Amino acid sequence: MTKVLFVCLGNICRSPLAEGIFAKMIKDNGLQNLISCDSCGTAAYHIGSQPDSRTVANAKQNGLKLSHQARQFDGSDLDEFDHILVMDRANYEEVRQFFLGEEHAEKVSLMRNYDPENKNADVPDPYFGEADGFQEVYDILHRSCRELLNKVVGNFN
Ligand code: 4NP
Repeated sequence: MTKVLFVCLGNICRSPLAEGIFAKMIKDNGLQNLISCDSCGTAAYHIGSQPDSRTVANAKQNGLKLSHQARQFDGSDLDEFDHILVMDRANYEEVRQFFLGEEHAEKVSLMRNYDPENKNADVPDPYFGEADGFQEVYDILHRSCRELLNKVVGNFN
């Protein structure tokens, strides 16, 4: 099983949406026996919470039903998962503090390294923004998840 982890700050907006999008792609492609995914946040603020109501509403508009209980990133995730996608550079710096060697560093990428439209940007944090920010985040994550799935599947061949 190849295990993929999405990481943001609160684990109530960006990363649970990425998890929902990627899980649907895994299912739609019949890859459930080969790939699994999860999400978490670097902060402890929202541990145990369901995704933000605005994220849930946006996901629903895009045909996704989200259910995830927020949890905090832990150093053991660097051993447990094969690919770790962080939403922004601040998340990267938090995760980097747990690196114990090159094999940890090699697993962690910025999510938008997989965005064909802008490979160097952060996934913007929609939490303090307007409602249209949530659809922008959805579009970014959908494009990036498609490329990520191509890479993960490519590794099987
Ligand atoms: P997320 O968004 O990292 O995409 O889940 C945020 C959620 C909560 C907060 C910040 C960002 N917060 O400050 O509580």
